[in-house]
Parts: sequence; C-alpha cells; structure tokens
Amino acid sequence: MLDESGKGRTTPPIIVVFNQKGGIGKTTTSVNLATCLAALGRRVVLVDLDAQSNASTSVGLSSPAATGAYQLLRGEVDVTHACRATPYPNLRLVAGSDDLSWADTEIALKPDPQYVLERALATTPGDVDVVVVDCPPAFGILSVNATVAADVVILPVVPSPLALDGLHKAWWNIQRVRTHFNRDLDTMDILFTMTEDSELMHRLTEAIVASFGSRVLPVMVPRDLKVVEAAARDLPLVVLEPDCQAALSYLRLAELMVGKMAVKGAAPLEDGTHEAALERLRQWRKPPPETGQPPKRPPVRESPPLEPGPAPKPNWDQDLTEQEGDFADTSGHWGWKIGVAVLLVALGAVLGFAFGRWMYLV
Ligand SMILES: Nc1ncnc2c1ncn2[C@@H]1O[C@H](COP(=O)(O)OP(=O)(O)O)[C@@H](O)[C@H]1O
Ligand SMILES: [Mg+2]
Repeated sequence: MLDESGKGRTTPPIIVVFNQKGGIGKTTTSVNLATCLAALGRRVVLVDLDAQSNASTSVGLSSPAATGAYQLLRGEVDVTHACRATPYPNLRLVAGSDDLSWADTEIALKPDPQYVLERALATTPGDVDVVVVDCPPAFGILSVNATVAADVVILPVVPSPLALDGLHKAWWNIQRVRTHFNRDLDTMDILFTMTEDSELMHRLTEAIVASFGSRVLPVMVPRDLKVVEAAARDLPLVVLEPDCQAALSYLRLAELMVGKMAVKGAAPLEDGTHEAALERLRQWRKPPPETGQPPKRPPVRESPPLEPGPAPKPNWDQDLTEQEGDFADTSGHWGWKIGVAVLLVALGAVLGFAFGRWMYLV
C-alpha cells in the first residue's frame, strides 16, 4: 500500500479534530466532515474518542457499542473489527463508549503511552482512504494520542472575546506534541465555527487571522439552529439539511481536506464531484420507512441494587418515646413558672389595693 501519510507508515491520512475547550463544534465538525468526505466518494472511518459518544449517535449508533474505540486502544481488536457500518455508504464508525473514561488511566500504564492510537490505527485495512478522529474536550492522554497520530489537525474555534487566549493554549499544546512526538505534523488548520454576522465577531475573526495568518481555513461555519436540530435527531447536519449554509461550509471543508490529501498522493477531486456529493447527501436524507411502531430506544442499563442502609439499634422505638417524654417534661418546667407568675400578679394586685385604701384613709 502507498505511504499516503508521508510518515513512513502505511495508514491512510488521519484528520484529527481537536481543541481542549468543549462546546466549540469539534463533534459537529468531525461528523459532518466525515459524512461529506464519504459523499465525495472517499472511504472513511470516523473514530469517536469521546466517552460522551455524541459523534457515534450522530451517525446512527442507537445502542451502546460492544466493540469500538476502547477495545481498539486496548489492542483487543484491529480497526476492521472495531468498525461498524453506518446508514451512509463509505462511512464506517469506531464507536465511543463510557469505558473511554477509564482509557486515560489504562493507556498511561502502557509502554510509549502516547503512541497507542497510532499503533492501533496501523491496522487500518487498505480499503480505507481517510480516518477522522473526534477528540474529547481535554488535553489528556487520548487527545495527545490523537494529535501524535495525526497528519492534519483541525482546530475549531468560536470567535469570542476569550477565544484568542484558548486558541493560543491549544496551539502551543499541539506544537509541543509536534516537537516531541510527531515532527511530520505539518498541517494545523483553524476553523471558525458558529460565526455570526456582527461587528464584534468580524473584529474577533480579524484579530485571530492577524495572529495565525494562513493557518485559518478559508471557510467558516455559520451559527445555525439546524445544527442543534440535527444533533437532537441523531443525524449529521449535512444529511438533514444538505443545502443550508452551514452544511455547504462543511462540504467545502471536506473538499479542502481532499485537496490537502491530494498533495500527499491521494486521488484529487474530479470535475462535477461537488454536485455529485451534494446530490448523494440529498439522497441520504430519505426518511426511514414508516413501520407504524414507535422508534426503537436503546436498551436501558440496569442500575446496580442500592446498598441496604445500617440496621437500626435495638429498642430504637423506645428511645424515640423517651425523647418525646423529655420534651413533655420540658413543657412541665414551664407549668410552675406560669404558676409563680400568676401568684406574683395576684400579690401585686392585693398590695396595690391595700396601698390605695391606706392613702384614702390617711
Ligand atoms: N454551527 C453551529 N450552529 C449552531 N449550533 C452549533 C453549531 N455547531 C455546533 N453547534 C452546537 O453546539 C453544541 C456543541 O457542539 P459540539 O460539536 O458538541 O462541540 P464539542 O464537540 O466541541 O463539545 C452542540 O449543541 C451543537 O449542536
Ligand atoms: Mg464533542
């Protein structure tokens, strides 16, 4: 097989979507980029490294995966056996799962822990053209592994007042990985996501472009509520609404990525591929056949039974009665106090009357 990665190995190009910040569009970008690459005729494997598994559900995973990224990282399966089919031709999924929360600890104990994913992806079969990896929202060992294995890193960024600071941090983290573990990583691209047409946003994007220059991709993904709807319906946006502006931006991103891969020897896009890809996405939008049945829910995991609480002490009910008795006694103390008060008032009245009489007689 051809060494397309330029890294002295025979795996296909690996595109990693990373930013240590959460909620900035990593998963949305991974899912829609992978789906668009598939629509462009590339055979794609999407690897979900996030324990939240949102990328997996977005491409149709409806129940917890028995094999996926966790088992791949542990070396229990190769890429072929870690993969499952998706509803979209050319797109296969290495699913995320809850177990990935443990992977950090387990990987750290392995020899050369930063190369675990790269070694695992070396088992990718020859019929895969490109791998897309969705990272968790932290710069832990999983993200380090992903950036070590990467040929291209895409850094999604939402232009906001704090974005520049976060972007510099993420950038320097990738630079460190590059210096120590992945000197062949030559493509680190910034992708603006959730952009809005406002004065403030224009100024912020200009500031980032001034700082990072040509590292900023010539495509932006606008904020669009359809993205949220697509996530809620477990569909890639580019399938739900292929003609909306945000979806077209993701298709453009995929075309840019194919262009970068073509530089490294992969087949370039032919004329008319854009229209063909768009048409394919519209086809994939077909609604599922009506079955008359309610939609199938994923099986609910049984919760472990609750531990029984400590057994009550013997005679606990008697203790309670005694406490009540104490309370009654306490109110008894008030009884004599009230009695004394009444006596004092009566004595005062008698003395007052006697004093009055004496004054009258004198
Ligand atoms: N272009 C967009 N327009 C509107 N909402 C978006 C857009 N991109 C992402 N979102 C929403 O923002 C939230 C975070 O996106 P997500 O891709 O999960 O980020 P991350 O993986 O970085 O945590 C999700 O609810 C997603 O639907
Ligand atoms: Mg995510």
